[in-house]
Amino acid sequence: MSGAGLPHHLAIIMDGNGRWAARRGKPRTYGHQAGTEVARRIVRAVAERGIPVLTVYAFSSENWRRPRHEVTRLMSLFRRALDREVDQLDQHGVRLNFIGRREAFSKSLQRGMARAEELTRENSRLLLNIAASYGGRDDIATAARRLAEQARRGELDPETIDETTFGNALQLAGQPEPDLFIRTGGERRLSNYLLWNLAYTELHFSDTLWPDFSEADLDAALDDFRQRERRFGGLAESQTKKHA
Ligand code: IPE
Ligand code: IPE
Ligand code: MG
Repeated sequence: MSGAGLPHHLAIIMDGNGRWAARRGKPRTYGHQAGTEVARRIVRAVAERGIPVLTVYAFSSENWRRPRHEVTRLMSLFRRALDREVDQLDQHGVRLNFIGRREAFSKSLQRGMARAEELTRENSRLLLNIAASYGGRDDIATAARRLAEQARRGELDPETIDETTFGNALQLAGQPEPDLFIRTGGERRLSNYLLWNLAYTELHFSDTLWPDFSEADLDAALDDFRQRERRFGGLAESQTKKHA
């Protein structure tokens, strides 16, 4: 049997914008601008390759700790993307879904997110989850709270809580687990991304800074994934045969 094939769900940490700009003697926000363009190209490339679900980390729950002017600039890029990109995405058959604490954003951005989701809800070519003010621990804690409240109201028997019920209380409920994870920018850590969902995901780290990430880099990651032998704690097919 060949390797893992094409992922059903690709999760990306788009990292390295600030360093990319610094290397050019520019402010970090210049890198975020460039990163937005690359995100647009890569979303399209992912759709063209036939991958049905893509989740991108746009802003973490910890990124609020950045200097105020950088946060402000990121918010205005977000605003602009909501104003300018959503129609195009809609035309390309992309369905948008935002995960994270959206109440942390301005009312106007919250309205923009809701509108984008509403406009694209019938699209089925690519489901694009955008993680914004997202933290994996927060996602898990929120799920626990929600289940506890249901139990307190007597709507849920705590005995019935298992991995499936818990997974269904998370923000990516009902979606396939990411099978491939890509982090650009050279850091080899998860930075509080989809902690629950990445349990058995294949990890691919790229030293390329996000604004330099190309379709060729995406294809290299997909090739890498194809070579992976996924075992999920069991045995590979070849091993099973040998020991049968
Ligand atoms: C990722 O690039 C974008 C966001 C976190 C919003 P960074 O801004 O983290 O860039 P580096 O890692 O400092 O180069
Ligand atoms: C993770 O990158 C978040 C996003 C890319 C949106 P960071 O740059 O915030 O992560 P750390 O601080 O290096 O762990
Ligand atoms: Mg970074």
